[in-house]
Amino acid sequence: MSLPPFRNEPVLELRRAAAREQLAAGMRELEPRLPLRVPVWIGDERREGDELVSTDPGDPDRVVAVAAMATEAEADRAVVAAREAFETWSRTPAARRADILVAAADSLRRRRAELAALEVRECAKPWGEADADICEAIDFLEFYARGAVALERGPELFQVPGERNEMRYAPRGVAAVIAPWNFPIAIPTGMVSAALATGNTVVLKPAEQSPGCGLMVVQALREAGVPPGAIGLLPGNGTAGAALVRHRDVATIAFTGSGPVGLEIMKTAAEVPVGGKHLKRVVAEMGGKNCVIVDSDADLDDAVPAIVQSAFVYAGQKCSAASRVLVHEAIADQIVERVAGAVDVLVVGQADMFGTDVPPVIEQEARDRVERYRALGARDGRLVAERREGAADHGWFVPPTVVADLPADSPVLHEEIFGPVLAVERVANVDAAMDRVDELPFALTGGLFARNPHTVHRVVQRSPVGNLYVNRPITGAMVGRQPFGGNRLSGTGTKAGGPDYLLHFVEPHVVTENTVRHGLVI
Ligand SMILES: NC(=O)c1ccc[n+]([C@@H]2O[C@H](COP(=O)([O-])OP(=O)(O)OC[C@H]3O[C@@H](n4cnc5c(N)ncnc54)[C@H](O)[C@@H]3O)[C@@H](O)[C@H]2O)c1
Repeated sequence: MSLPPFRNEPVLELRRAAAREQLAAGMRELEPRLPLRVPVWIGDERREGDELVSTDPGDPDRVVAVAAMATEAEADRAVVAAREAFETWSRTPAARRADILVAAADSLRRRRAELAALEVRECAKPWGEADADICEAIDFLEFYARGAVALERGPELFQVPGERNEMRYAPRGVAAVIAPWNFPIAIPTGMVSAALATGNTVVLKPAEQSPGCGLMVVQALREAGVPPGAIGLLPGNGTAGAALVRHRDVATIAFTGSGPVGLEIMKTAAEVPVGGKHLKRVVAEMGGKNCVIVDSDADLDDAVPAIVQSAFVYAGQKCSAASRVLVHEAIADQIVERVAGAVDVLVVGQADMFGTDVPPVIEQEARDRVERYRALGARDGRLVAERREGAADHGWFVPPTVVADLPADSPVLHEEIFGPVLAVERVANVDAAMDRVDELPFALTGGLFARNPHTVHRVVQRSPVGNLYVNRPITGAMVGRQPFGGNRLSGTGTKAGGPDYLLHFVEPHVVTENTVRHGLVI
């Protein structure tokens, strides 16, 4: 049966009491089951353990999941199991694989409230963000299921008399999927479903901060009919990820995470292990330093809320979050004052409180890192806004902060902070702002607020970023609408949720047949 056209899963309208109640019911369902026990899960074999513990960033005494920590031997066994399962899964027709992925999407739909609640607890995602994350996971499953069916048909080639040419895309083999915690269900689901839809088998290594969410992804896929060997789960830290990257039989590595780890993975993957039969392919989505340019004619009623939302929602822990605002000097003072005013009314608080904009950051290490950048900003620049409320609370809160007048070489302007810190800079004009954007080695997202269409055109032509947003917030890419991913040191230029993404998980085979027959052998 063919699938209906793709459409994005609608997010819940949380201004409605009924929608809030639906999510609260999910939390009531989840809480008695905490802590979740997350096994190393290879084929039908489960090993539970308590070496890895994830806790609520808003209440670090609350244990959310207790996981086994995968060993190098287990990483090897998971790859071997995936290699064996590849024989069958790779020959399963794309339409059948698509049905299974769509069934997994249905299972996420059914458990949506409970899964959103898990993100609230394990990663301190505010409700609206958690719900959007589950919707994005559903979108990835539905989108790649359809894409793989279309890809299986192969492209049309030029044909001449006496010759038949065919091209098809074959799965590459075992894919190692290494995921971050900040979109703890959507990002692993996206990378895993792209690999599975195209006939690869997968070993998933979720982030050490979100093993519970990783378990939910694998459970949904297995319950929907993905054979156990075709999707393994390896909870653990970077060591387990590195063991997968090195493994001889891993053909593709789909990684989303920080720049330094991405670079290390690429270096390791470039070495062909003894007996290795693949040039390993790395699909890497990494960090950014995302700038928003505001021209003198911008509509500030649009620009200010969009900037504040892009910088501070989920405490700035989105790879797409705004971290620098480059504003035309004619309106710089006005922007600084209005951004500071908007920061003053942000809701800083626990993620499980409806309406929270800025929750605590993921862990103590993250809080300490962001605090170091805040201290640098306060020392070298001018503190324009700072909200200290959450600081007294139990949890890894960092005050949302805006700094201006930093020296050009400040690390606050050049390094990914990944927290609620925004720098505002004054520039002579849009071209000067573009020069600063161009100096950066990152090129993930960017924004522009301007009314003059010539200015918009000029910036679009010059911008190096993977996703440029004009006159709107710079976060919240939607599957199928805004294929997402960075350029330069922000990633391999692969676009998750876009038309070309699946091509990274396949290899092309061309068959040319001489159709001028030389007699019939009976
Ligand atoms: N570009 C994007 O689409 C995108 C999306 C989300 C997050 N990110 C980036 O991710 C980062 C935040 O996520 P994080 O803190 O989980 O990143 P991270 O790099 O610390 O970890 C990501 C994953 O890599 C694993 N890992 C760590 N060391 C490894 C190694 N040596 N070999 C193999 N795997 C290893 C971790 O265990 C984790 O599963 C930020 O830099 C953010 O910008 C990018």
